[in-house]
Amino acid sequence: MPDRPTVLVTRRLTDAVHARLERDYNPVFNLDDKVFDRDELMANCQSVDAVIPCHSEHFSADVIAALPERLKVIANHSVGVDHVDLAAAKKKGVIVTNTPDVLSDATAEIAMLCMLSAARRASEGDRMVREGRWDFWSPAFMVGVQTTGKRMGIIGMGRVGQVTAKRARGFGMEIHYSNRRRLPPETEQGAIFHETVEDLLPHCDVLSLHCPSTPETKGLMNAERLAMLPKDAILVNTARGPLVDEDALIDALRNGGLFAAGLDVFCDEPGGNPELSKLDNVFMLPHIGSATKDTRDAMGFRAIDNLDAVFAGKEPGDRLA
Ligand code: 8YV
Repeated sequence: MPDRPTVLVTRRLTDAVHARLERDYNPVFNLDDKVFDRDELMANCQSVDAVIPCHSEHFSADVIAALPERLKVIANHSVGVDHVDLAAAKKKGVIVTNTPDVLSDATAEIAMLCMLSAARRASEGDRMVREGRWDFWSPAFMVGVQTTGKRMGIIGMGRVGQVTAKRARGFGMEIHYSNRRRLPPETEQGAIFHETVEDLLPHCDVLSLHCPSTPETKGLMNAERLAMLPKDAILVNTARGPLVDEDALIDALRNGGLFAAGLDVFCDEPGGNPELSKLDNVFMLPHIGSATKDTRDAMGFRAIDNLDAVFAGKEPGDRLA
C-alpha cells in the first residue's frame, strides 16, 4: 500500500513479527536470510523509510552518511548497538532505537547455562559419551567446580546483569558487581558494589560480562585483568566477543590460570575462534542468548512499537539517537 511506510527487514524474523509488519507497513523482507554486504545494505536502504536490522548489519559512519533523506529510523532488533555509529546517526538526523528488557530473561538463562556447563565440564562430557569414548568411571573422574555458595562477579549491572544476578542468587551465590554507577539498595538486593573492575576481580569465582561493547571496553578482559581473578575462576561472556582478549583467554585456559570459560559470543562471528575450539575447558554456543521464540517475538514487536511511535510523530520508547 503506497501510503504506508516502507520498512527494510534485513534478516528473517518470526512469523508473528512478519505478520504484524505486513498488516501495518510495506515490508521488504530478506526471506533468503542472506547477510547483506556493505554495498547490498546501502543499496537496499535507498528506497525505504525505515530499517529493522540485527547486529549482523553494520551501520558505520559512511553507510549512515549515504542513507537517503526519506529514511527516518533504524529500529534495531537487538539490545546491543555496537554495530551502529550513533554519533553519525545523530548528525544525520536518523533516529536509532533498540530492544531492551524483552531479552534479559533469555540471555540470563544462557549466562547460567554457560556458567554451569563450564563449571561441570559439560562439552567435554557430552563429546566423550557421544563419541563412544566413555569407557571408565571413578569418583575422581570428570571432577568439576561447584558453584553453590560461590561468588559471582558481574561487570555491567544493567537489565541482563540484574536478571543473571537473580538467577545466580537462586544457586546460593553471593553477588559482586562493578558498574558505571552504584545501584540503589532495592535494585542491588544485597549485591556488593566495587568501584572499579580491578577491585571486583579478586572477588569473582565466576565472572559474567554484561557491559556494552564500545571502544573503551574493547579487550577489557586482557591478560593483566584475567590474572586478577582467583585461581580456578570461570569466565562467562554472553555480551560481546571484543570485551575479551581471546589470545589472553586462551593462554589463561591453557596454563591453568582459569578453570574454564563459557562463551556465547566471539570476536569473529559467525565462526568463533579455532584455537578456543581446541580446548576442552571451554563451553561454546553460537550467539544464541536471545534465541527463544518468545523472546524473538517480543524483540520484533518492540522494534515495531518503536517504528509505530516514529511514524505517529511520537517519541519512541527506546530511542538511543
Ligand atoms: C541477538 C544480541 O542475537 O540483542 C542483542 O544485542 O546480541 C542478540 O539478542 C541479535 O542481535 C538478534 O537480532
